[in-house]
Amino acid sequence: MMKKQLEESVAYLISKGFDKPEIGIVLGTGLGKLVDEIEDRIEAHYNQIPFFPLATVEFHAGKLVFGTIAGKKVVVMQGRFHLYEGYDFLDITYPIRVMHLLGITKLFISNAAGAINLNYKKGDMMLIEDHINLQGGSPLAFKNVAQFGERFADMSEPYDLDMRLKLEQLAAEHNISLKKGVYASVVGPQLETKAEYRMLKILGADAVGMSTVPEVIVANHLGLPIVAVSVLTDECDPDNLKPVDIAEIISIAENTEPKMVKLFRELIKKL
Ligand code: HPA
Repeated sequence: MMKKQLEESVAYLISKGFDKPEIGIVLGTGLGKLVDEIEDRIEAHYNQIPFFPLATVEFHAGKLVFGTIAGKKVVVMQGRFHLYEGYDFLDITYPIRVMHLLGITKLFISNAAGAINLNYKKGDMMLIEDHINLQGGSPLAFKNVAQFGERFADMSEPYDLDMRLKLEQLAAEHNISLKKGVYASVVGPQLETKAEYRMLKILGADAVGMSTVPEVIVANHLGLPIVAVSVLTDECDPDNLKPVDIAEIISIAENTEPKMVKLFRELIKKL
């Protein structure tokens, strides 16, 4: 599996001018606008990149964008792949491996998530300190994983402490509220039942979403330091649960996006 395909994907991107990015950034649902901050942009649509999974969900633009932010070379995934679209764990983490081979030494991740911790409100941002994998599988469960790193990847500190501290400091300096907590990943695409939200709370989750954890596992395996932020788009109160409104979830993500862009931009400057 995979080494040859990865090499071809990377060779294509290098030929397009993706020249040694330092920071990789994954943008979640409703959070694509950070790309507007990129100078000297070069874009590659996912369906142009050899061996890349093909993009499906319509509200994702589905492209990899290279350029500079605050003078630093970045590669940004505008739109990610989800299990709920029918991709498998290897597909959804393939772009992380590609960005790693392009040369990134840090990974930023964002997502939209539901607030399990009811002290957190929609429109809040949450720095992810730890996670719970409830997706029923692992992106490292394949035969030749040992060619890519340790089989039994360490997960004792999956989110980089130094970048977490920097992000908290920056949030304080810029008067941006930043909660912190544990993110639980589920497959989706259905939202949770009341009983499931109660369970997630008992398990120790502060937020729940349908992404991020597989990418974080692979990035850890590759030795990439990660910082990840959830934008909380709905309040998952089992005693007062309203029918889900996806349009509202996306609009809350979009409204919160400028704060997230600001934080990421400031962190890029600081690194
Ligand atoms: N559950 C799962 N994923 C989500 C949610 C949620 O409530 N909100 C945004 N993504």
